[in-house]
Amino acid sequence: MTQRIYIIGAGAIAGHHAEAIARLSTTGEERPELSITDAHPAALAAFAERFPWVKTYPDTASMLNEPAQADDVVIVATPPVAHAELSCLAFRSGRHVLCEKPLAMNKAEADRMLGAAREAGKLLGCCSSRFAGLRTTAAVKTLLAEGKLGRPYRVNWIQRRQRARTGIEYQPSSRWFLQPAISGGGTLMDWGPYDIAGLTEALDPVRVDVLDAWMADPLTGHPLQAEVPSEVEQHVGATLRFHLTDGGAVPVHYERAACCHGGERSLTEIEGTAGAVGWDWLCWDGQGDIVRHDDTLGEPVTDVIRVTDDSPGLMDKPIVYFLDAVAGRTSPAIVGDRAAFNFGILCAIYDCIRTGEPQTVAREGAY
Ligand SMILES: NC(=O)c1ccc[n+]([C@@H]2O[C@H](COP(=O)([O-])OP(=O)(O)OC[C@H]3O[C@@H](n4cnc5c(N)ncnc54)[C@H](O)[C@@H]3O)[C@@H](O)[C@H]2O)c1
Repeated sequence: MTQRIYIIGAGAIAGHHAEAIARLSTTGEERPELSITDAHPAALAAFAERFPWVKTYPDTASMLNEPAQADDVVIVATPPVAHAELSCLAFRSGRHVLCEKPLAMNKAEADRMLGAAREAGKLLGCCSSRFAGLRTTAAVKTLLAEGKLGRPYRVNWIQRRQRARTGIEYQPSSRWFLQPAISGGGTLMDWGPYDIAGLTEALDPVRVDVLDAWMADPLTGHPLQAEVPSEVEQHVGATLRFHLTDGGAVPVHYERAACCHGGERSLTEIEGTAGAVGWDWLCWDGQGDIVRHDDTLGEPVTDVIRVTDDSPGLMDKPIVYFLDAVAGRTSPAIVGDRAAFNFGILCAIYDCIRTGEPQTVAREGAY
């Protein structure tokens, strides 16, 4: 039977999904049948002009009305405010759901989505898998598993950009990114899902404590920032403690900025008693470095290994990995408990900032 995929929301990311789905057929597979709907007729019409091979529907209910096939997939590609409601609707129609990041607006919504998935006996996946399954990250996991770094005692995950605000410098047409009632938050909701996915993939924690956290919205002279009062954080940081499967715990310094006045920086590094490793956790252009530091006869030694990444492109990963998971194949897809756990860590950072109190998120069940 032909694979069927349905997209709700015909905006910027839907175009990337459609291109990724079209590319599936270049690997010898039959191209899935793709349907799409959008709340705004103009957005739907523009999409139809760009992708004439895609079936369009005036609303979600009519699109999901046809009887479901066992492996049907719905991609929820709207702003976050609609993720929970539309995902639950899609589960009730008997379909698997791949939801855009961030998974939801808050923890209660994410729990509701997971509950609806379980009730329907379907998979809930999150598109925070865009940088999952990279060879660089796999190499780091192997170093940790083989004890090559000794006991890990410090992790730095620092990603700072000076002017890269979504809704201002990037995709200024989608101002909703700056409105928390629609986006759920700022750069922590926008980029945090990828950061947390990278950190949890590398370290595989069973529990995460948020010990301290802060956020800010730096002022700039950009005319768009003056025009619409900015309501979301563009710079966020947290002191986390990751509890590992071997019973150990490691402190994680986390920082993400889409806007800051200090310098730009990217540091993705684990330090252990026997060595340290830094790695390219994005591999934008299909290549990335693994930087190892250790000690040979009392001298610090640094080795840089460049690897070619053969995983699907970053916009292809979410659907490729999710279709693997739906078919029961092993895949780096971020689904079910894992998606809820990762999202729970983001929510705990916000809760720590809001309450001033430490928070704990435990991974439930096995994934
Ligand atoms: N733009 C990117 O580069 C990018 C990258 C990765 C992930 N995402 C994520 O994808 C999601 C959508 O972002 P975008 O950039 O495509 O936004 P967008 O503003 O380009 O498009 C969103 C579309 O959703 C439609 N929509 C809103 N509510 C709807 C509803 N209830 N039912 C049907 N359609 C509805 C809007 O009319 C609009 O066409 C967000 O969660 C975002 O974080 C975006």
